[in-house]
Amino acid sequence: MKLETKKLEPSDLDRVCEIEEASFSMPWKREDFEDLIERTEANYLVILVDDYLIGTAGYTYNGFEGYVNNVAIDPSYRGKGYSKVLMEALIEDGLKKGVKEFTLEVRVSNLPANRLYESLGFVSEGIRKNFYEKPTEDANVMWLRK
Ligand SMILES: CC(C)(COP(=O)(O)OP(=O)(O)OC[C@H]1O[C@@H](n2cnc3c(N)ncnc32)[C@H](O)[C@@H]1OP(=O)(O)O)[C@@H](O)C(=O)NCCC(=O)NCCS
Repeated sequence: MKLETKKLEPSDLDRVCEIEEASFSMPWKREDFEDLIERTEANYLVILVDDYLIGTAGYTYNGFEGYVNNVAIDPSYRGKGYSKVLMEALIEDGLKKGVKEFTLEVRVSNLPANRLYESLGFVSEGIRKNFYEKPTEDANVMWLRK
């Protein structure tokens, strides 16, 4: 099996949008990703198994600080540790760019995602009340400081 991560490209967007729609109640649209691909202070990666795109994750950054979002794995490929491989690549990419701190929000009930981020060293530093819609839910605010 071949496993690789690479930078998100416009030709990946059909698959990325499919995964996005299967993963979130308020999925991003193609235009949202197109805008991000253009921005120099953003980097989005995808993960491929045997050349088939199965997940995506990205961050925007501002100096030392990176804001991680849109971490999603195709439902058929979950539970195999692929998100960790992808997030490790994302963090390594950030460190090369001088990003030393990463933050993100995650639904408090989202156990796989909370476990994923904890396993990477993210620590909860607070709760943002009613941060999410559809359904309304608190966000766990996590930080990783390298
Ligand atoms: C969150 C997500 C990216 C994780 O991807 P994944 O590759 O399937 O992750 P894994 O299966 O390797 O699991 C990550 C951790 O959660 C644990 N886990 C998996 N399913 C679980 C469940 N139902 N309950 C509790 N823990 C669970 C795993 O054991 C693992 O923890 P460990 O490293 O301590 O063993 C994936 O579930 C997903 O795309 N979800 C929908 C989108 C989403 O919620 N994104 C995050 C937004 S903040």
